[in-house]
Amino acid sequence: MFEKVTKVLAITAVSTMLVVSTAIAAPITIKFAHVVAENTPKGQAANKFRDLVAERLGGKVVVEVFPSSQLFGDDAVLEAMLLGDVQLAAPSLSKFERYTKSLQLFDLPFLFKDMAAAEKFQQSEAGQKLLNSMESKGLIGLGYIHNGLKQISASKPLHVPADANGLKFRIQTSDVLAAQFEALGAVPLKKPFSEVFTLLQTKAIDGQENTWSNIYSQKFFEVQPYITESNHGLIDYLVVTSAEFWNGMPEDIRTEVKKALDDAIAFGNKVAEEKDMSDKQRIIDSKRSEIITLTPEERAQWVEVMKPVWKQFEEEIGKDLIDAAYASN
Ligand code: SIN
Repeated sequence: MFEKVTKVLAITAVSTMLVVSTAIAAPITIKFAHVVAENTPKGQAANKFRDLVAERLGGKVVVEVFPSSQLFGDDAVLEAMLLGDVQLAAPSLSKFERYTKSLQLFDLPFLFKDMAAAEKFQQSEAGQKLLNSMESKGLIGLGYIHNGLKQISASKPLHVPADANGLKFRIQTSDVLAAQFEALGAVPLKKPFSEVFTLLQTKAIDGQENTWSNIYSQKFFEVQPYITESNHGLIDYLVVTSAEFWNGMPEDIRTEVKKALDDAIAFGNKVAEEKDMSDKQRIIDSKRSEIITLTPEERAQWVEVMKPVWKQFEEEIGKDLIDAAYASN
């Protein structure tokens, strides 16, 4: 009898150990949700991150990438992150306004003259400080991914601001962008990225603003006969996670995950630089959309009409921050 009990106890102990060791060995899963196609700077950076983590942390951490709004659109992803349903996302900097007003900075029209200036500011002390601007809301910024400068596509040729008067433009969820189109006498409509193509195709809206790579990968150029090369604003991304998830990872693993992310961001930024030129050329080659190049006088008119938006948001964003960003030019 005694022997039988000992045997049962031994078997129970072994199976408990097995269950415990299986639980310890279970990998950490990072779901990375984004809204763009895989052949974009952000899509490529996300896939690179997945691959680097598999290579360097195989078995300990698994990254699952969900492109094209398959898991969450940008409107829902941050709430889902705080609920623990997704661990990583990289919404455009225009989509954080419910969580922080500071990032509205990046939507100010004609703030950066080129991507080098945007990079310089993002890597500066002030730019890095912005990564922590949502800490009180439980969100941590881990880095910036570039896309590029924005162009305006429309159903009619836009040479001067007056040409946009009365037209309906889709914008991201940003009050700064709304003010920018209102300054043109146009009608801004905040709509999810996933709906833009259909809205353009069905002519429910007249135009939108986006980068060359998004205009190409989302096929906006197939349903928009004109694109004005305005370079008036920026679409870059903030890679974001929840503080609860990030700080809950063992430190050694977190360090390795961050290194993989930094390397993936550097890779994505190279893709951004290359795609900015190549996707523009692909659009030209398609002959589906005419690209309008502004004369210096026409461009000056766009600057003059849009620039007052800075004053409108100066108090919310902070004059010092605006000055620091502008100085990077
Ligand atoms: C993105 O590039 O992630 C989306 C930008 C947009 O909503 O226009």
